[in-house]
Amino acid sequence: MKSFSQFPLFQSHLDLAHHYWKKIVKPGDIVIDATCGNGYDTLFLAQLLLEDEKGLLIAIDKQPEAIEAVKARLAAQISGRRLPCIRYETRCHSRFPDDLDKESVALAVYNLGYLPGGDKTMTTMCPTTHQSLEAALPLIQHGGAVSITCYPGHSEGKREEEMIIEFSSNLDPRIWSCCLHKWCNRRLSPSLLICQKAEK
Ligand SMILES: C[S@@+](CC[C@H](N)C(=O)[O-])C[C@H]1O[C@@H](n2cnc3c(N)ncnc32)[C@H](O)[C@@H]1O
Repeated sequence: MKSFSQFPLFQSHLDLAHHYWKKIVKPGDIVIDATCGNGYDTLFLAQLLLEDEKGLLIAIDKQPEAIEAVKARLAAQISGRRLPCIRYETRCHSRFPDDLDKESVALAVYNLGYLPGGDKTMTTMCPTTHQSLEAALPLIQHGGAVSITCYPGHSEGKREEEMIIEFSSNLDPRIWSCCLHKWCNRRLSPSLLICQKAEK
C-alpha cells in the first residue's frame, strides 16, 4: 500500500485498531493479546489498562522466543509496579487459561500471521484461529470486543480472512456487532475486523 501520508483521509489498520482499543479498554480491565509476537501491541495495551496494581494483561504466543522478547520489551518500558499484572502464556491460543471467568474480558486482540522477518512456518492457521475465536467469545464482557487483524497477502492469511468473515457473519446480531475494515481496491492489504458484544 502507498504511504498513508499520500492519503491523509485514512489511517493504517493498526492506527484504526488502536483507536478502537482506546475506546474499549479502561484501567483495571482484563485484556488478552492472543498473538503477542514482538510485543508492540502488548505494550500499547499495557499502557491503556494497567494502573497501579489493577488490571490483568494476558500475553499469549506459541513461540517461546516471542514470549521472551515481549517480557524484555515490557520490563524496559513499563513501571515495575505494573509488571505483576502481566501474565505470559507460551501456548497455542486455541485454548485460554482455565481460570478466566466467562464475560470477564474487555478485549481480545489477534494480530494474525507470522512475525515480520521471522519464521514464516510459525504463522497462525485457520483451524486454530477458528478454535481460538470460539473460545474467546464467551469470555468477552458486555460492551467488550474482539479485534482481529488479517493479512490476506499470503495464502494462509487469505484463508483466515475468509474464515473470520464467514464466522463473524453468522454471529447473532442481537448480541454481536461486527465491522470489517477492508480496502476495496487493495485486496492484499491488511484488514481489520472488530466484533463488539452488546452492552447490557
Ligand atoms: C503478526 S505476529 C504478532 C505481532 C505482535 N502482535 C506484535 O505487536 O509484535 C503473529 C504471532 O502469532 C504467533 N502465533 C502463531 N500461531 C499461534 C497460535 N496458534 N497460538 C498463539 N500464537 C501464535 C506467532 O508466533 C507470531 O509471534
